[in-house]
Amino acid sequence: MIKKFYYFVVNQIMTLILKSNISFLRNFYWNLSAKMIDDNWGNSKNDYAVLESVFKKVAPKKIIDIGCGSGRAFPLYKSFNVPEVYAQDVSKIAITLCKEKHPEFKCNYILSDIVNLKFEDDTFDLALSTRVLAAVLAENIDEVIKKITSISKYVYINEMSETDYLGASLYWFKHDYDALFEKYNFKVEDTGMIVVGQGDKQQNQTWKLYKKQS
Ligand SMILES: C[S@@+](CC[C@H](N)C(=O)[O-])C[C@H]1O[C@@H](n2cnc3c(N)ncnc32)[C@H](O)[C@@H]1O
Repeated sequence: MIKKFYYFVVNQIMTLILKSNISFLRNFYWNLSAKMIDDNWGNSKNDYAVLESVFKKVAPKKIIDIGCGSGRAFPLYKSFNVPEVYAQDVSKIAITLCKEKHPEFKCNYILSDIVNLKFEDDTFDLALSTRVLAAVLAENIDEVIKKITSISKYVYINEMSETDYLGASLYWFKHDYDALFEKYNFKVEDTGMIVVGQGDKQQNQTWKLYKKQS
């Protein structure tokens, strides 16, 4: 009974925070959710086969994991011996979880919003974003894509699209990624589908690998 009431109150607070559209409050939401996200999806490997094919193709020496969460993809980076890994997230709790779960992993952590990343053009061979750009508000997505496309030569995304969009919500948004990337001189190099387990509503996640055009 007390637990039910507690979840009800937390849910109401989260809804108010997300309705505000104020960045620092939304970031607070991600901090509140970090542990729950890790408990539910932190060890999922359903996109590993696709990511392996991307790593084989790009053979990146320097990567940035945008919105890394609790470091779900780190085992893959380790298995490919990527020389330089940067992992960025707005949630301090998510980054702490990364360090706790992968204490031996050499990684450069960045606690920051995507738009505040400060790197030279083409610093990274590959930037990866899984279920992060979909959390960016429509009014901010252009600025975010501009930032990511300036710092990396390839960008891999697995975000919401026609195949897995769950409808209007306060935290997941559907963006026209092809148009946005094209605006910044990127084209789709490869694309496909990740079929998630039957129990999960978010089946058939469309992934895309964009490449900067010379
Ligand atoms: C659903 S989780 C996905 C985590 C991880 N990419 C994965 O695949 O397991 C979304 C993550 O994006 C982060 N995030 C949301 N908005 C962000 C922003 N504007 N800049 C950086 N990280 C952000 C959240 O803190 C959260 O860790």
